[in-house]
Amino acid sequence: MRVPDPSPASVYSYPRYYAIGYQWNTAAECDFLEACLSKRQGRKAVAMLDIGCGAGRHLLEMARRGYRATGFDLRPEMVAFAQEEAKKSGVAVGVSVGDLRRMALTGTHDLAVCLMDTFRFLLTNDEILRHLREVGAHLNPDGLYVTDFWIPTKWDQIANEIYQWEQTQGKTTVRVFYLQHPESVDPIGQTFEDELVFAVDEEGEQREIRGERTRTRLILPQEFLALVEASGMFDVVGAFSDFDLTKPLAGGNLSWRMVSVLRKRS
Ligand SMILES: C[S@@+](CC[C@H](N)C(=O)[O-])C[C@H]1O[C@@H](n2cnc3c(N)ncnc32)[C@H](O)[C@@H]1O
Repeated sequence: MRVPDPSPASVYSYPRYYAIGYQWNTAAECDFLEACLSKRQGRKAVAMLDIGCGAGRHLLEMARRGYRATGFDLRPEMVAFAQEEAKKSGVAVGVSVGDLRRMALTGTHDLAVCLMDTFRFLLTNDEILRHLREVGAHLNPDGLYVTDFWIPTKWDQIANEIYQWEQTQGKTTVRVFYLQHPESVDPIGQTFEDELVFAVDEEGEQREIRGERTRTRLILPQEFLALVEASGMFDVVGAFSDFDLTKPLAGGNLSWRMVSVLRKRS
């Protein structure tokens, strides 16, 4: 895969802090992935591909559970960190540098995932369609593609949202700020810039790491479903408001995220 040089200044150049700040509910998220796969063959036979794997939290957890896990990310620092963590845990994973906007996948997989807003780096309908077709072409029959990205809960706050959370590991606490920049909105292309900032407290020492502003796409739920249909590759198993099969994304379950489960069309 030809990969453009990522910008040097980014929170993604600090994978250890990223891995702490983005622990989220990785085990529960992997439970969800396993539930989607439930009627399938044994774990060792299931090949998973993590697109934009970051520091490798899903990839590593699924490998620990016995799945054959591979993944890629644009950031060499993230890839190196995931490889190192796999070595420490004694699990085998295949991780490489790659760009989800210009993918040329090899091999076939039973499960592909693109989690925690990574799908929104696909900026145009053409990029999304090409991506869906490439993933579909590299899934085994009945293979699943699970995506998870931010959606607005209120239309008058589109590109104007701020989220913050804090996670701690040992003596390090990482407070993550996710900011959208409303002045950067392109209403025709449906893109805007967003940014991650880490406020790190490590053994009492504080530092702030500002990420670069990154252009991302607003993808509305109905638009996503229409693009999936237009790709001709997938049936929609369901769309959920969290990693929870009992919470369909519908009126009573408004959410800042849309978790979609797509099955390769036979
Ligand atoms: C918010 S993180 C999510 C990481 C991981 N999926 C998770 O759930 O923790 C977004 C990741 O996407 C990666 N990324 C950004 N642009 C990308 C691209 N064009 N191709 C592949 N990965 C990309 C970043 O380096 C970062 O690791």
